[in-house]
Amino acid sequence: MELYRTLFIEFSYLVASILFILGLKGMSHPETARRGMHLAEFGMLMAVIGTLLHHEIVSYEWIIAGLLVGSTIGAMMAIWVPMTAMPQRTALSHAFGAFAAALVGIAEYYQHGAALGQVTMTALCFEVMLGALTTTGSLMAFSKLQGLVRGTPMTWKGQNVFNMTLLAATIGCFVYVLIVPTAATIFYVMIGLAFVFGIMLVLPIGAADMPVVMSLLNSYAGLAAAATGFALSNNVLIIAGTLDGFSGFILSILMCRAMNRSMTNVLFGAFGSAATAASTDGQQGDMREISLDDAAVQLAYANQVIFVPGYGMATAQAQHIVRELAETLEKRGVSVKYAIHPVAGRMPGHMNVLLAEANVPYSSLYELEQINPEFQSTDVAVVIGANDVVNPDARDNPKSPIAGMPILEVDRARSVIVLKRGKGKGFAGIENPLFFKDRTGMLYGDAKDSLTKLVQAVQHA
Ligand code: TAP
Repeated sequence: MELYRTLFIEFSYLVASILFILGLKGMSHPETARRGMHLAEFGMLMAVIGTLLHHEIVSYEWIIAGLLVGSTIGAMMAIWVPMTAMPQRTALSHAFGAFAAALVGIAEYYQHGAALGQVTMTALCFEVMLGALTTTGSLMAFSKLQGLVRGTPMTWKGQNVFNMTLLAATIGCFVYVLIVPTAATIFYVMIGLAFVFGIMLVLPIGAADMPVVMSLLNSYAGLAAAATGFALSNNVLIIAGTLDGFSGFILSILMCRAMNRSMTNVLFGAFGSAATAASTDGQQGDMREISLDDAAVQLAYANQVIFVPGYGMATAQAQHIVRELAETLEKRGVSVKYAIHPVAGRMPGHMNVLLAEANVPYSSLYELEQINPEFQSTDVAVVIGANDVVNPDARDNPKSPIAGMPILEVDRARSVIVLKRGKGKGFAGIENPLFFKDRTGMLYGDAKDSLTKLVQAVQHA
């Protein structure tokens, strides 16, 4: 009987691991992402069932209570948290996961203490340290994104030196506990320092850089889970934690690359601070405002229109009305495409998720490399609450803070209509020469309002 139980547990872990890998693969494309999520969910179910059959479990009451509380909170978050709050929701989930990993490590140490071997102790200390710093780091990321804490970078003199000293002290405790495993006080001091370090790590980073930070914290949480797997000799935790750890790390690198910034710049550069913003002000000229009717006529009589959504479309929740405008134009024979920049918005795939929610067909979405050559032959490019991702300075001005960042070359279109509320800057806090060009017309107002009016105006054009 015992043999069958062990075999079933290992089998469920094997199936779970395969499903996690297939799930990740599925998430590499919007069309297969939903299926990927379902596969990963099923994998998690298999892993939970396998774990619940472990013979070390003596009573199920607390586990069932935990499952009920966790599932209720998870379901409520899934149902009620709006799409625009997805980044902070993810930060909160990371905090929960990392805290769970830290608690498991603390419980193991409390129960077995110095009796744990050197290897297990190393894994356990890793788990607790990464778990603790990820918990507070993610909570800080959540607070910044939710506006509970000021979103701009909080910096002061000697900050990096202080943070490095804190990290060194935490690692010092880590090493000491490995040498003297009975030093329980030092073990708990290490946890305390790691909690503080998590906060200090995220404080100097601006709210808009949080997706990169979160994906990095996600990778720490994954590594903490993998370390937990080593500490508990649990294969599925080792595999899932490693997948999580490395996919999070790769995602952070990809996001940095799409912004043409180094990881060091994101973590220590305090991007978006007043100093950075001020250095690039002073754009000459005026922005040309156009009327709603002018914009409608341009769109109605165009052959090809490209929509370029950005963060403003997300804040205005304008994705549904964007699709409506596209359909209205298509009925008139206009070809409509959507240009998607990899870091438009504030989280990876932000625009894809919103447009998918509005049932925009995937076949109409084009990546940067595919769409850029098309702008030249496009009659109208409609910029919907995007700014940095269409800033030609990134291409033309080597002194720009975003120099080298790949952009959507909207300025090459025959005419450009920009939908934004006013003269507000984008995430990088810099002026955008596109808005001052002769061929650019500014249609001021909330993107959703402007688009609603445009749909009606195009119908009557
Ligand atoms: P942004 O450069 O942030 O510009 C957004 C623009 O939308 C603003 O200029 C704002 O101008 C306008 N806006 C805001 N609310 C609006 C509304 N209700 N209606 C109409 N317009 C509105 O956006 P982007 O072009 O998408 O660029 C994203 C930036 O975030 C990049 O710099 C990128 O590097 C950074 N970033 C992205 C990520 C990921 S993973 N996506 C991660 C970290 C950082 P007004 O105030 O005048 O309306």
